Amino acid sequence: MSNSPDGHTKENPYHSELLVNRLMTEGSDKETRHFELSLKSSGLEYLPGDSLGVHPLNCQDAVADLLSAIGFSGKEEIELGEDTVLLGDALSTRLACTVLSRMQIKKFNEIAQASQLEDLLKSENKQSLADYLWGRELIDLFLEFPQQGLSASQFASLLRPLAPRLYSIASSLSAHPDEVHLTVAIVRYESHGRKRQGVCSSYLADRVGETVPCYLHGNKNFKLPEDPETPIIMVGPGTGIAPFRAFVEERLATGAKGKNWLFFGDRSHAHDYLYGEEWEARRKDGILQGLDLAWSRDQEEKVYVQHKMLERGAELWAWLQEGAVFYVCGDAFRMAKDVDQALRQIACTEGSLSEEDAATWVRSLQREKRYLKDVY
Ligand SMILES: Cc1cc2nc3c(=O)[nH]c(=O)nc-3n(C[C@H](O)[C@H](O)[C@H](O)COP(=O)(O)OP(=O)(O)OC[C@H]3O[C@@H](n4cnc5c(N)ncnc54)[C@H](O)[C@@H]3O)c2cc1C
Ligand SMILES: NC(=O)c1ccc[n+]([C@@H]2O[C@H](COP(=O)([O-])OP(=O)(O)OC[C@H]3O[C@@H](n4cnc5c(N)ncnc54)[C@H](OP(=O)(O)O)[C@@H]3O)[C@@H](O)[C@H]2O)c1
Repeated sequence: MSNSPDGHTKENPYHSELLVNRLMTEGSDKETRHFELSLKSSGLEYLPGDSLGVHPLNCQDAVADLLSAIGFSGKEEIELGEDTVLLGDALSTRLACTVLSRMQIKKFNEIAQASQLEDLLKSENKQSLADYLWGRELIDLFLEFPQQGLSASQFASLLRPLAPRLYSIASSLSAHPDEVHLTVAIVRYESHGRKRQGVCSSYLADRVGETVPCYLHGNKNFKLPEDPETPIIMVGPGTGIAPFRAFVEERLATGAKGKNWLFFGDRSHAHDYLYGEEWEARRKDGILQGLDLAWSRDQEEKVYVQHKMLERGAELWAWLQEGAVFYVCGDAFRMAKDVDQALRQIACTEGSLSEEDAATWVRSLQREKRYLKDVY
């Protein structure tokens, strides 16, 4: 990854033209979109495995709802850093006004003094606090515990700056000069009687103007092997597929001879096969020697990528013995842990290792940088 001569960085983002915003999951109850952004004249360059940071704007409806819940018009003046700005403008462009944290509840309760919140903040009530936070946003706090007499500055002091979000890059510059592609799951859900949406994913889906403020975020720990002949195994369910599209495009464009094996999974084959046509084409032209697909909702019982790994355990073990690099991308909380467990299980059954030796072997893969993760 390199930054441009103009010095585009997180603090000084490049305003990239949005070229494509395409729904990839027609007919699914999940919304995953493919985006293409232009890097023309930016001087920005990236490598497969890098991420793109996107600076979103808040949704106007969410800002209006929050202002009305607190009883402000948005025309109140507040100090933000060195600037004096209108509260409404600050909420639209500079402050995080949805996602709720423990720290915010703590600060809020210095003013509200609510005994229910006091209890939730106690160290022994961590799980209750997590349950309370799940599906609630800042607005819920003000609706549940109305605060009369709060000043606009007091309110603004509860808010954190609006943070950019990272997205794994789904393209290779060799295949798409001057472009960067993303694969984004749009966060939309309903909770406590309100429709909600993720700030940045819904910004990309619904609210971008002509350009998207963005910057490159390198990841030197998630790269293709230096030797183009090294085999690679890629496990990327859901949006975890993104960097592997970049990897395979790069290997195709550069004529890399190493074998490639992809494990992909999502809800249904009919509606959620992200980049399906590309994978089928790569299987036909021999770039993908392995393509295993796990559709979790096409049958009664769940089928996940780790189940496919276990089915192909002998071959997977053989690839790893040949020196393959093993990559995982996507959900950190459940999937990556289960994939790790499957890898250990394969070492026990196919390599006849004890559980302890399998754990040591997995650690050695990590040390040798042959087990790489991009999980979130
Ligand atoms: C290195 C890295 C790479 C990433 N790559 C990708 C990628 O390629 N594609 C991709 O889509 N994302 C990716 N992400 C995640 C991405 O950065 C954002 O976190 C994601 O898009 C959500 O951001 P948001 O602003 O839309 O949602 P936010 O406004 O941040 O809201 C998300 C919050 O909403 C709440 N929430 C979400 N769903 C529910 C629900 N069903 N019920 C109740 N509460 C819920 C949770 O509190 C959650 O934390 C990556 C993250 C990292 C760190
Ligand atoms: N912490 C969280 O709650 C969390 C974590 C990651 C993503 N998400 C949400 O999901 C969306 C991102 O979607 P995504 O496309 O990246 O992924 P995803 O929708 O979470 O999952 C993609 C596929 O992985 C399956 N899966 C679920 N649990 C798994 C496990 N333990 N091991 C292996 N596979 C598993 C899913 O199956 P089933 O859905 O049928 O079980 C689905 O088929 C966002 O809207 C985000 O908010 C939430």
